[in-house]
Amino acid sequence: MKVVMLGAPGAGKGTQAKKIAAKYSIPHISTGDIFRANIKNGTELGKKAKTYMDQGLLVPDELVVDLVVDRVNQEDCANGYVLDGFPRTIPQAEALTKALAGQGQKLDYAIDVDVPDENIVRRMGGRRACVGCGATYHLEYAPPKQEGICDTCGGELILRDDDKPETVTKRLGVYHEQTQPLIDYYTNAGILKRVDGTVDIDEVFQAITEILGE
Ligand code: AP5
Ligand code: ZN
Repeated sequence: MKVVMLGAPGAGKGTQAKKIAAKYSIPHISTGDIFRANIKNGTELGKKAKTYMDQGLLVPDELVVDLVVDRVNQEDCANGYVLDGFPRTIPQAEALTKALAGQGQKLDYAIDVDVPDENIVRRMGGRRACVGCGATYHLEYAPPKQEGICDTCGGELILRDDDKPETVTKRLGVYHEQTQPLIDYYTNAGILKRVDGTVDIDEVFQAITEILGE
């Protein structure tokens, strides 16, 4: 099963993608996580990506497309995958469609996690990410067992650099301009499914499993 997650920054794509990956035993591929790991490790890709990410801008398509196409061709993706944060622009979506078509494949579902802008800013302000393993929490909606400490690895929980309110507003603008057109793109491809992302995390997942099947 090949799934892409769509939705505004902070809509809950990552939260749901992790649950999908666990339930259906497919890899979770997050371009945001890949960039953050590269930033942490001080790679050339990380240095380039950081200058865009810190401003709330998208990283240029040419830095993303090959990376994802290589990743989905790896052996662990033979039974499918869930893409989170990619594609984010029409050229990225077209490149993915083309790469898959070259192998006689196509995506099965594009799931749009729908959350209005008003809810987003509140969510991002409460989000905390683990410096150790990248796990995501929310102060109010998904708190860790012990304040400030990751349940999984014991790492410190911090506010992401791009979750500051002014950067969130910028990211939302970029989303509407560059990423929202993908809703029409995947509607036309006949694979778009929309779920209400404003309900609680388990209810959103319930709606997704109704789409993907047991
Ligand atoms: P990326 O990491 O992909 O950021 P994003 O799309 O902005 O998404 P987020 O990770 O912010 O949010 P999410 O939807 O995953 O929400 P989450 O589950 O964490 O990308 C970061 C940057 O990298 C981009 O800005 C760009 O610069 C660059 N980049 C990445 N991919 C790129 C690409 N393909 N092309 C170009 N540039 C790219 O949830 C948010 C919070 O809400 C959490 O705290 C969570 O606990 C909570 N929450 C989740 N669901 C619920 C719920 N139902 N109710 C209450 N709280 C909830
Ligand atoms: Zn951790």
